[in-house]
Amino acid sequence: MEITTLKLINFRNFEKLELNFSTQKNIIIGNNGIGKTNIVEAIFVLALTKSFRTNNDEVLINKNNNLFKVEANVKSSFVNNYKLIYQDGIKTVKINNKKINKYSDYISNINVVLFSLNDLKWIKDTPNTKRKLINLEISQFDNNYITYLNYYNKLLKQRNVYLKSINEFNVNLDYLDIIDKQLINYGIKIRDIRKKFVDDINKEITTIYNVLGGIGNLSLDYKTEYDMMSFDEIVKLIKKGIKKDIIFGSTQCGIHHDDFIFMINDIEMKEYGSEGQQKNSIIAFKLAEMEIFNKRNNEYPILVLDDLFSELDVGKIEKILKYIKPEIQTFITTTDLKKIKKAYLKNSKIFKLSKNGIKEEIYE
Ligand SMILES: Nc1ncnc2c1ncn2[C@@H]1O[C@H](COP(=O)(O)OP(=O)(O)O)[C@@H](O)[C@H]1O
Ligand SMILES: [Mg+2]
Repeated sequence: MEITTLKLINFRNFEKLELNFSTQKNIIIGNNGIGKTNIVEAIFVLALTKSFRTNNDEVLINKNNNLFKVEANVKSSFVNNYKLIYQDGIKTVKINNKKINKYSDYISNINVVLFSLNDLKWIKDTPNTKRKLINLEISQFDNNYITYLNYYNKLLKQRNVYLKSINEFNVNLDYLDIIDKQLINYGIKIRDIRKKFVDDINKEITTIYNVLGGIGNLSLDYKTEYDMMSFDEIVKLIKKGIKKDIIFGSTQCGIHHDDFIFMINDIEMKEYGSEGQQKNSIIAFKLAEMEIFNKRNNEYPILVLDDLFSELDVGKIEKILKYIKPEIQTFITTTDLKKIKKAYLKNSKIFKLSKNGIKEEIYE
């Protein structure tokens, strides 16, 4: 899959920008704060309808304006035109100028695997943040995932509102029964999709981690309270916890507590790894994701490496670049080219960002 052209209107610091990309490597270079991440963020927003670094869409609008547009031509089996317009709090998405009403019909079309420094949260952050990260990844694989998640969250909210309104003596168990059955039903669907995703990642990740120079067995551990349980077992578990749920006024058990933990051998990466090793394990994870996509769709997604190369030495960078197959369209943002060996720049398109605008050149 390849993005051939990208057009931005009033997105972040770009009032108007049009870029034609190489189908191989695109290197976006410039000083900090110049707008490199903004460009790849636009690609991500177009693919997933939301940013990887903010939940507030308003900040994506150029500060002198009141709407933004992102548009791209994307080549898969066919060339399609994708457009996202955001105005007055409303996002509109179009494929070939036809408005798409259901997000689930839209977001699995452009597949992007993106690494940014935000991904260090995979190691360091709370389960809540990690669930948000994994939701972004999985929503591209599975059209129904976000729909299930929305149903689950709605039911969970409904259940918690009810729990807060009652005590042990006036509980309507029939009402709870109806909610619980639906909640668990969607919870199991979500658990199964998450589990399949993590299992597939774990089939690939150690090999890649080792090729990149990492030592040991890397895995992503999926922790869920629904672990291995059948529908009936979960119903029982929830019933058993009802007193506690009423006391807390919220649902104590469910996939809304799931966690995802990077492990190296049997130690948490968080406890073990240096910054470099942690970056390496996340990049192995992202490259594993590329492989899963390719196995499922017979096509590689677009790969974006945002600021990956800071803090990595030349040797490590070379290993990563060597691993990336030439047929993968790759976007790399960096403050300088010094760390990238000339051999890997061959046929790359370079976009030099400065206060005076963007200069493009092809590296022969
Ligand atoms: N809504 C906005 N309107 C105008 N400028 C913005 C907006 N949001 C961010 N910026 C500017 O974008 C710049 C940061 O861009 P970024 O892509 O993160 O830089 P980098 O090149 O370091 O990756 C900052 O200078 C910031 O002021
Ligand atoms: Mg940046």
